[in-house]
Amino acid sequence: MTTAKHAAANRTDAISILTDDHKNVKKLFKDFEKMKDKGDVADKEALVDQICAELTVHAEVEEEVFYPAARKAIKDDDMLNEAEVEHAGAKDLIEQIQSMDSSDPMYDAKVTVLGEYIDHHVEEEEKEMFPKARKTKLDLEALGEQIAALKETKQTRVMSGNGKQPRSGSSSARA
Ligand SMILES: [Fe+2]
Ligand SMILES: [Fe+2]
Repeated sequence: MTTAKHAAANRTDAISILTDDHKNVKKLFKDFEKMKDKGDVADKEALVDQICAELTVHAEVEEEVFYPAARKAIKDDDMLNEAEVEHAGAKDLIEQIQSMDSSDPMYDAKVTVLGEYIDHHVEEEEKEMFPKARKTKLDLEALGEQIAALKETKQTRVMSGNGKQPRSGSSSARA
């Protein structure tokens, strides 16, 4: 399920895991842009479901594990508050997309805007928050372990349909 490229390298610290998630989801948004006008509708829906699921899991582990630890260590409440507001905005868009029919004329636009929104958010994390966190005494390996375990639990929940995914029939998208 993970790309072999990343699985091979022993990237276990919290920031490496989160950065790999960013790369992964960026690629999924790129795939969406390629297929949105010409792709098969079921494939497109499955891809969007996957994007929403991956983003939801990623945002939750940041909110539950990484952000609280970073907030304590970095002591920059403004930065952490802004990141949380951005998560809330993304979550709102994700919920709109998940409750929408893909034939809705606004569907593609919402997914594209979500991608742009995430790009901006990820850039702030990678250029500002993560470098600041690396300069602190945070135990990034221990946080990474926590994040990896929590991700697994959450992925099982989201992929088995116990998450907030009203649409059915596309759960076989992932091998
Ligand atoms: Fe984030
Ligand atoms: Fe992130």
